[in-house]
Amino acid sequence: MKQDMIVVLDLGSTRNTDVARAIRALGVYSEICNYDITAKQLLEMPNVKGIIANGGPNDTVNGVKIRIGEEIRKSKLPVYTFDYEENGSINPMPESETAIADRIRSFVFDRCKAQANWNMKNFIADQVELIRRQVGNKKVLLALSGGVDSSVVAALLLKAIGRQLTCVHVNHGLLRKGEPEQVIQVFQNELDANLVYVDATERFLTKLENVSDPEQKRKIIGAEFIRVFEEEARKLDGIEFLAQGTIYPDIVESGTKTAKIVKSHHNVGGLPEDLRFELVEPLKMLFKDEVRACGSALGLPDSMVYRQPFPGPGLGVRCLGAITRDRLEALRESDAILRDEFAKNALEGKVWQYFTVIPDFKSVGVRNNARCFDWPVIIRAVNTVDAMTAEVPEIPFAVLQKITRRILSEVSSVNRVCFDLSPKPTATIEWE
Ligand code: XMP
Repeated sequence: MKQDMIVVLDLGSTRNTDVARAIRALGVYSEICNYDITAKQLLEMPNVKGIIANGGPNDTVNGVKIRIGEEIRKSKLPVYTFDYEENGSINPMPESETAIADRIRSFVFDRCKAQANWNMKNFIADQVELIRRQVGNKKVLLALSGGVDSSVVAALLLKAIGRQLTCVHVNHGLLRKGEPEQVIQVFQNELDANLVYVDATERFLTKLENVSDPEQKRKIIGAEFIRVFEEEARKLDGIEFLAQGTIYPDIVESGTKTAKIVKSHHNVGGLPEDLRFELVEPLKMLFKDEVRACGSALGLPDSMVYRQPFPGPGLGVRCLGAITRDRLEALRESDAILRDEFAKNALEGKVWQYFTVIPDFKSVGVRNNARCFDWPVIIRAVNTVDAMTAEVPEIPFAVLQKITRRILSEVSSVNRVCFDLSPKPTATIEWE
């Protein structure tokens, strides 16, 4: 392993992630460890240079105040006791973020003598070696959705084990325009991946016929996805590993030993018993921006690495009510126009998520001097940090007019375009 490491020992802080990120921002690798890790376990981890014992409000477990283990204290490793929260809430004159950053910097470099060698080149080199060691000459399977995380995992595994990896791309018929084509182009044509492309559109749309309840739609899409993936997995011989795009926030948000669970980390747990694989999760220590940097370093196109978030059920939750093929097509086309105009007007990296929605009712309009009764389309564009709350950014009126004109002239079944001005709360980002 090439990187030096500073361990953030979780003694009940709510800001472990911030501290780990601050250390990584200095170019030094950092991981969060549970308070009950033993000195032996710590010393067995590669290149640990020091420990930040990170206290805070969740410092009591089962009525007992937790503290750093005596053996760790006695070990040769430099230990720094830290309480981020105390700085902010209890002190009348809280230390500035810069002063805190300076204290961390001084500990990391002056006391621990850590090298600033955390970078993507080293990370990739380490992971390639670790993946090869774990997998040997065995075969690995990956569900490649085309999203950032699964695409970066695919690129990393391809570099490490090439055609020992089989990627399965399931097109559930609810992907955006051009997405399956891009996955095939990048992974099969450019990176020479072993790619199984499954067009399961008919299966999904048949299952979804006349289903209008949003949660029911999500359940059907999720369950069918696992079924299709499982069928493909059974066709392949001798697969022993399953690769997953788990990232660090998935693990941190699943709850540490001192903090409550934010959301449970769900991997492909739906696979049946006889299809259990050993997991390969090479991104599990990366934050989202680091995953993107890794993808870029591996040569993936920006359109894949900086792609806006897209829900698993895809266009299925934007084609409101019971999904019909005509509305789904109108939705896909209007969404492609919106994305094209956002890209042309330099809004791509500035707006967090933007898409169109199609309701399941028609409205009256006029076309070619005659009354028409067609679908409306709604434009949704939001900015957010964590998707828990969201604001609607100002989109230049001329851009909205251009998008409207194009949708109305290029998508024949749409006669009206609306813009959703609602923040979250009260509205959610998606309509279903
Ligand atoms: P809401 O609509 O809850 O969305 O404000 C917050 C973020 O989550 C995405 N989203 C989903 N992602 N499966 C997903 O993988 C889902 O069922 C789902 N529903 C919403 C949404 O696109 C937004 O980024």
